[in-house]
Amino acid sequence: MKAQEIRQKFLDFFQEKGHQIVPSAPLVVKNDPTLMFTNAGMNQFKDYFLGNKTAPSPRIADTQKCLRVSGKHNDLEDVGMDTYHHTMFEMLGNWSFGDYFKKEAIEWAWELLTEVYQLPKDRLYVTVFEGNAEDGLEPDQEAYNIWKNIVPEERIIFASKKDNFWEMGDTGPCGPCSEIHIDIRPAEELAKQAGRALVNQDNPLVIEIWNLVFIQFNRKADKSLETLPAKHVDTGMGFERLAMAVQGKYSNYDTDVFQPMIQLIAEKATKTYGKDRQVDIAIRVIADHIRAISFAIADGQAPSNNKAGYVIRRILRRALRYGYTYLGFEEPFLYGLVSTLATQFADVFPELKAQEDFVAQIILNEEEMFLRTLVNGLKRLEEVTQDMKPGENIDGEVVFRLYDTFGFPKDLTALIAKERSLGIDEEGFEAALQIQKGKGKDDAKKETGDWIILHEIDDTEYLAYDTLDINTSIARYRPVKIKDKTVYQLVLDRTPFYAESGGQVGDTGYLVSQDGTLKIPITDTKKENDLIVHFTPKDDFTKLEHLSEVEFTAIVDAKKRHLTENNHSATHLLHAALRQILGPHVSQKGSLVNEKLLRFDFSHSKALSPEELTQTEHIVNQKIRENIALDERRNVPFKKATEELNATGLFGEKYGEFVRVITFDENFSRELCGGTHVPSTGKIGLFKIISESSSAAGIRRIEAITAEEAENYIQSQLQILDELKEMFKQPKDLKKAVESLIQEKNALQKELEKLEGQQVQELKKELLTKIEQVGEINFINQKVALPSVEALRQLAFDLKNEQQNLVAVLAANIKGKPQVGVMISDNLIAEKNLHAGNIIKELAKEIQGGGGGQAFFATAGGKDLNGLDKVIEKAKGLLS
Ligand code: SER
Repeated sequence: MKAQEIRQKFLDFFQEKGHQIVPSAPLVVKNDPTLMFTNAGMNQFKDYFLGNKTAPSPRIADTQKCLRVSGKHNDLEDVGMDTYHHTMFEMLGNWSFGDYFKKEAIEWAWELLTEVYQLPKDRLYVTVFEGNAEDGLEPDQEAYNIWKNIVPEERIIFASKKDNFWEMGDTGPCGPCSEIHIDIRPAEELAKQAGRALVNQDNPLVIEIWNLVFIQFNRKADKSLETLPAKHVDTGMGFERLAMAVQGKYSNYDTDVFQPMIQLIAEKATKTYGKDRQVDIAIRVIADHIRAISFAIADGQAPSNNKAGYVIRRILRRALRYGYTYLGFEEPFLYGLVSTLATQFADVFPELKAQEDFVAQIILNEEEMFLRTLVNGLKRLEEVTQDMKPGENIDGEVVFRLYDTFGFPKDLTALIAKERSLGIDEEGFEAALQIQKGKGKDDAKKETGDWIILHEIDDTEYLAYDTLDINTSIARYRPVKIKDKTVYQLVLDRTPFYAESGGQVGDTGYLVSQDGTLKIPITDTKKENDLIVHFTPKDDFTKLEHLSEVEFTAIVDAKKRHLTENNHSATHLLHAALRQILGPHVSQKGSLVNEKLLRFDFSHSKALSPEELTQTEHIVNQKIRENIALDERRNVPFKKATEELNATGLFGEKYGEFVRVITFDENFSRELCGGTHVPSTGKIGLFKIISESSSAAGIRRIEAITAEEAENYIQSQLQILDELKEMFKQPKDLKKAVESLIQEKNALQKELEKLEGQQVQELKKELLTKIEQVGEINFINQKVALPSVEALRQLAFDLKNEQQNLVAVLAANIKGKPQVGVMISDNLIAEKNLHAGNIIKELAKEIQGGGGGQAFFATAGGKDLNGLDKVIEKAKGLLS
């Protein structure tokens, strides 16, 4: 069975069992501060488990791109070393949201594995949760009893919380689980030892393939478990491992999921996979990492220097170093793998194919950047480690320098150290890093307390599109500590506040209690896991009696909202105009919309010309003048929006089954968008681009302003023009007036240089008459006035050319600043053991300055003009 068929059979199986098949969520997580990347299929459903939202269907199945490289689930260290861990992998999953539970989940898993995939029953083992006293949890006898009806009891193993209680992160939905393991060892191994003892023992051929989690709890910030209102199923099966088992291989990398890439890398490196352990590891690392990097970039996370971006950069650099050291890739090579990957996944994850060139370009850029320092970094590391003994740690300061100067992520240095049986001094590294950052690491930490529930609500009624004020009450709140400051998050029954998303900032405003006694300022509104949270700096409100029942009027700051809307609608017009002018490859890569400006990042490989910018601006302003009415459609089925209506969406955005479509002229701009907009484009008034720049490789950034901001900007520019005209005494043609001023200035400059040249010549003649004899040396030791450092240099060289056995000390006043030059004839350097650089160091002290140079010529600048006489004195002394 080919991998593609294995995947399809999973989805078909669960579709037949009443599951709705949904697309994979993007790899990069937005709106959840506890998570950077999707690390499990269930992430996108977190709110359904917690009861914050109702699932569109009680049964769902999919294949989900997951990345386990940070936080609670991190497999990075194992990747490539072994044959069954990955950074990015596909997780096949089926879910029940308060619908079926353990019995169906277990029976269907068994049916699929043994009947559809025909995996031999006598190779399968199952584990169940043994209970945990600390959490007050009993053994999962229920699961045990269900399994007992399916498999012989000697194939069921009770296991501990570590393996059989699944948690998404430090907090969040969780529950006991039951895992299915497979023993794929060859028959002779099997005869020696039964598989049971090898389960959960890190044997590469006795591995977990499917995890059935019975979600019943929410792990709270205080570590306690809260029972959820309903019971759910969350299963996850490693697709690549399943493929290995079904295809009868001993390594995930030997399946057709990885083989095309493995062979491509081997071919590029002119190596053969399967001959040499180190080479194989390197090939596996690269075959794995290229997937994580490419899909993360396609989902909107380019490599960068912080947070999620740095995780991707680290993975990329790890791959590069393996390629460089073990496969001999000295030039960028990763980018050349993207196209094979994109084609392989075109039907499951089409986002990569659609952005193939863009992704390759970003990777190439990263490769070029790191390869420039990699060689030197490795050399440095070699120097440092050559005399070290196994077990020693590389100094933290060195690890930091490698990071800071050569771009070596700490874990890369640790990896190379490990290959030499060395460690790294983590603490020393952290200390050096903190010194550089100039602040404690904990500053940026955010701690969230548990919610205090006042009353249960299903979902906040979201009225941001319909009104700017509404009566409401507080459903729950919690304290959040950000950088030692505590603020409060509020969830309301209904809200008119727009929650930050799609680049548009969150609304601000007030909640005013009905009796007018309390006014709660709302300083920001955000989405966290689809909860709409309002931020307020103080906890006065908690002192109100019967807080749960208190009615508030929620009032949005309308002025700020309207200005923001101008900029958001203008962003759509800009996007459409850019596609018209530059081409359809332009796609949004980021945006910020607030009351002051709009910032739009988009894929395009070179700077826009002034003409392109003018044209873009012109189209947008034309569309503003056409005063096109907003066409807002809610709850449009996703397929209809993208296929029939041809609306533009964003890569890396998670769209639900129903989307909102914003149109300004169906032939011009139609986007999937959750933002708020002007009722008609005329309200924007005016659109002005204020900058165009590069935001990252392959991405351009335009900043623009609208309405009053744009008017003020143009006014101020015109005012500068008026003032210029005034300075030029109101010329008929200002441009000509400026041009002739520049010409005049250039001519004068030339004239001046000529005069200065003559002056230097005169000076030279004069100095040659002032030579003193000190033994055989012709000594010139004079104070001079010169127009520039360049003139001093010229003078010194001219003197050297015309006079033999020369030592010249020129103490120059250059337009009020002291400068000293020392010139020595070449023959004297060896004969008399003289060095201009050494002499200048001494002389520089007299003018409170410093300098240096070569043996025959050196200069120094300083601060104290009065020191020039002392320079002459000292030079005399030095020479004699
Ligand atoms: N959440 C579980 C896991 O990731 C099952 O999907 O293993």
